[in-house]
Amino acid sequence: MLTASCALAAVLLIAAISAWLQRPRRVAEAFRRQGIDGPPPSSFLSGNLSEMQARAAAAAVAETGGDRDFENEGFDDYGKTIFPYFDKWRKAYARPDTERTHHTHSKNFLLLPRERIERDRERSRMVVSMAYVTSSLFFPFPSAPATTLLLMGSVAAFLMLVGAISAWLQRPRRVAEAFRRQGVDGPPPSSFLSGNLHEMQARAAAAAVAETTTGGRDFENEGFDDYCKRIFPYFDKWRKAYGETYLYWLRRRPALYVSDPELIREIGRCVSLDMGKPMYLQKGQEPLFGRGVLKANGADWHRQRKLIAPEFYMAKVKGMVDLMVDAALPLLRSWEDMVAGAPGGVAEIGVDDDIRSFSFDVISRACFGGDYSRGREIFLRLRALSGLMSETSSVIFTIPSLRHLPTEKNRRIWRLTHEIRSLILQLAAERRKASAAASHADDFLGSIIDSSRGQPRADDFVVDNCKNIFFAGHETSAVTATWCLMLLAAHPEWQRRARAEVLDVLVGVAPDFDAVARMRTLHAVVLETLRLFPPSSFVVRETFRDMQLGRLTAPRGTYLFVPVSTMHHDAAVWGPTARRFDPDRFRDGVAAACKHPQAFMPFGLGARTCLGQNLALVEVKALVALVLKRFSLALSPEYRHAPAFRFIIEPEFGLRLLVRRLDLDHDHQQGH
Ligand code: HEM
Repeated sequence: MLTASCALAAVLLIAAISAWLQRPRRVAEAFRRQGIDGPPPSSFLSGNLSEMQARAAAAAVAETGGDRDFENEGFDDYGKTIFPYFDKWRKAYARPDTERTHHTHSKNFLLLPRERIERDRERSRMVVSMAYVTSSLFFPFPSAPATTLLLMGSVAAFLMLVGAISAWLQRPRRVAEAFRRQGVDGPPPSSFLSGNLHEMQARAAAAAVAETTTGGRDFENEGFDDYCKRIFPYFDKWRKAYGETYLYWLRRRPALYVSDPELIREIGRCVSLDMGKPMYLQKGQEPLFGRGVLKANGADWHRQRKLIAPEFYMAKVKGMVDLMVDAALPLLRSWEDMVAGAPGGVAEIGVDDDIRSFSFDVISRACFGGDYSRGREIFLRLRALSGLMSETSSVIFTIPSLRHLPTEKNRRIWRLTHEIRSLILQLAAERRKASAAASHADDFLGSIIDSSRGQPRADDFVVDNCKNIFFAGHETSAVTATWCLMLLAAHPEWQRRARAEVLDVLVGVAPDFDAVARMRTLHAVVLETLRLFPPSSFVVRETFRDMQLGRLTAPRGTYLFVPVSTMHHDAAVWGPTARRFDPDRFRDGVAAACKHPQAFMPFGLGARTCLGQNLALVEVKALVALVLKRFSLALSPEYRHAPAFRFIIEPEFGLRLLVRRLDLDHDHQQGH
């Protein structure tokens, strides 16, 4: 409504200004059509005034003395002396029956019939002229209806514009007031244009400098803080000041921080297409995600999700365990080599990169099947693209339109985006050509090529969703496996229990889907990892119209931020051991582990929950099982515990482990 009236007001104002600008030309044209011409105005604003003033001044100077023969010479029309320009113009433009006189400002013309001019000459021309000049402002001359309309239009447009601007200016106050009436308060915006952003940036920077807890901590007894306190310290501060749900401002947009379990449940229940992923994410991360399922909204998202979801059903995931084992082999071999060459049989290994390569391999194989090595090339470029784009700490803090500037970095982003698109489309074209009629659905690319048939924007659908699967499924699984190994290294008793189960299940068999499914302790360990270190720190939504969420009405354009890690550490939800690593809490499932099951959301909420969660859980469990089967792990004294935000939450300084090759027989016996 506000935008519409602003637009209407702007259009009206522009029309009025343009009519105003054109008016002298239109009026002169109208007179010209009636055979009346005149001196062109020498200036747009002052019409012929400058010339009139200059000539009058010159005539006054040229005036003559009193020795003239008045009896014979008579008297000149004094108008010639006093208003010499009229005489000049009269000679130049006068027609037999009319004379045209120009006056102040380009809009004032005086058209006088010759007889009337003769009559009026007895009076001062100046008086007549000025009378008309003045009256023309008030009386409807022939052009008056247009003038009146113009004036009215201008006034209406102006009023509308003022109304729209004032509504825009007042919106934050109105929205804040509406929330306050519903019991929701929040920090006042520190700046009119940037809202609370400055404070957020300043606090985040201060926290990053202040940090770094070193290794050697007693994690078993101390447990782990909610990482949000370190990474997003302003949220913690505001939560203490304003309660579980509060309002803050991202530039001119209201943002609702929601950590009230009841409200979270309402958001989870909402299946309306009028709630979706914030548009700023779509715009700010366009090169990475395009308009694929991760960031799309409305009917476009719904259609894509329906087409893609079957790719992640358990039946499909079952067939992927072999490729996970294959992808783990390079990591296992490399660790074995390092341990074999290490003094005392204990190697200190920075494990994050190896784990990332493993998950990169899994997703490349799942996505591209037989074209795996070409797929790797594509994903390597995507990784470079992601690295470039994550140089800016957060999309919230960047100005979206800056991405259009042809800076060095933006040009590299554009080039990579173009290359990735071309490579994917080339692969897709080859596959389509190879078997026009048959299905290609033995890998993810094949399935989306099949699904793209008859779809609008078929090429975009294929390209964007390939990218989406890579981003959704690569780093998230890798970082979960990394945190999981860190937690097992820091909790030797749990490591022993998990290994005992692995060795039990994998007696004489390679890990397959059924074996992984039987590892219930390991399952609980992975869930507990996701509770303490959820890779996605927030579930975010935007309301695309005014929406009712339980007791709360959120106006259109409100961002909703649900702090995942904070909910996962809330003692009111998880009890007094909330900070501690205790997989036992998940022994009887999520519902039994906490007071509000909706508060456990490592895979998100409601209609948009993660499509790949089955795949992710199996993948992480398979890798950890393979590692536990061969190695024992301890935290390196060099490990510095510092979760950091780089799109997802990862250990800022990496994970260094002391890795020892297991004496299988001995350890197995100990495990029983
Ligand atoms: C431990 C690993 C993973 C975690 C923690 C994770 C977490 C998430 C989260 C938090 C969301 C957003 C949900 C929301 O907004 O409510 C999401 C969405 C999604 N994830 Fe995952 N994810 C993981 C692995 C994967 C994998 C392996 C894949 C696929 C290969 C995948 C595919 C997706 C897709 C397609 C969506 C978009 C769903 C939609 O918007 O409709 N994820 N994930």
